[in-house]
Amino acid sequence: MANDAPTSNVSANNVSTSSASASSASANNVSESSASLFARISKGTGRRYAAAVLATLAALVARLALNPLLKDYVPYITLFPAVAFGAWYCGVGPTILSVVLGLIGALYWFVPPTHSFSILGTTEAVGILAFLLVSGVVLAMGEARRGSEEKLRAAQLELEDAVRERTTELDTSNQSLSKLSARLIQLQDDERRRIARELHDSVGQMLAALGMNLAAIGSDIARLTQTASTVHDSEALVQELSREVRTISHLLHPPLLDEAGLASALRWYVEGFSQRSKVKVDLDFPAEFGRLPRESETAIFRTVQECLTNIHRHSESPTAKIRIASSDNEVRVEVEDRGKGIPPERQSEMESAGIPGVGIRGMRERLRQLGGNLEIHSHGRGTLILARLPVAVSSESPTVT
Ligand SMILES: Nc1ncnc2c1ncn2[C@@H]1O[C@H](COP(=O)(O)OP(=O)(O)O)[C@@H](O)[C@H]1O
Ligand SMILES: [Mg+2]
Repeated sequence: MANDAPTSNVSANNVSTSSASASSASANNVSESSASLFARISKGTGRRYAAAVLATLAALVARLALNPLLKDYVPYITLFPAVAFGAWYCGVGPTILSVVLGLIGALYWFVPPTHSFSILGTTEAVGILAFLLVSGVVLAMGEARRGSEEKLRAAQLELEDAVRERTTELDTSNQSLSKLSARLIQLQDDERRRIARELHDSVGQMLAALGMNLAAIGSDIARLTQTASTVHDSEALVQELSREVRTISHLLHPPLLDEAGLASALRWYVEGFSQRSKVKVDLDFPAEFGRLPRESETAIFRTVQECLTNIHRHSESPTAKIRIASSDNEVRVEVEDRGKGIPPERQSEMESAGIPGVGIRGMRERLRQLGGNLEIHSHGRGTLILARLPVAVSSESPTVT
């Protein structure tokens, strides 16, 4: 935009300059020939007088040449153009000189009696007067024309001066405009360079830093996503572990055994065992069975627990049956399966050496401490474990020691 304005101004100036030149040229064309002749003659007073005298002499020579043809008829005829020339181009003084010279020449050569200045009669006198009168009129007209010519010339010179002055002004303003334009272009370049440097140094650096931050955030997010899934997995593991701990804790010592008694504890355990081991267990527990001393209830629970574990581990039996019965002075616990039975060599080993496995030995020991015993009946189609405990069934709460 800044560049457009000076350009249009320059072109406008060019137009006005050319139009001024054109008007000046047309003014010159109008009076070019006469003006140049006028200018050449009117350069000095001597030139003007010389021109008038030469024109008069030429007119006299021409009349002299025409003398055989014209005789004494119209003696001033060729002088009129000379007088007109003098009046037109040379001014009052040279024209009067031309008239006087012409009159003298005409009187001497062409007006009878020739070769003398004497006048014969009125005809010649009228002729002289007419010549003088016409010359006076021509001189007056020429003077009027010369006045307007001079005025025109002065106006033209004035116009030319004005045009020259205007052209100089235009040249000056064109030069200053082109300087201004160059300065504007330079300023624009400097400004662009400065903005480019600013952009590169500040915004560019900031963008680079921002890019690095975003990349770091991106990798953080990826790491956090991974961490989140790890946390989620760990949460599931913790929940599972918590369940396991709870189960293990309950299996180690079921809270139900103390609080709700053997029946509830056994039902809870059998249900969980079936789910875990996929062994179908049938629990036959008498409805009227009351509470037993805590040691007895624990012994019975541990016996059933160990027997079911052995069935799951060793028997390969799909089912198990538990029967709890009480008589007047003892409780009978039978756990039976339809598995492969205890191998005979294992049985004889257990009977001869008296070294049963840890589980069976633990059961026996526990029952023995309470005055009870354990019988094992096993064959190829299954195993029956029978535990007896000499306790009287009581409906009271277990004695806590
Ligand atoms: N129900 C059963 N069916 C088959 N084999 C059994 C059964 N119960 C126990 N046994 C056998 O008796 C062995 C001793 O059992 P136990 O004293 O509980 O020891 P553990 O279970 O630690 O091996 C077992 O190794 C297994 O060979
Ligand atoms: Mg065992």
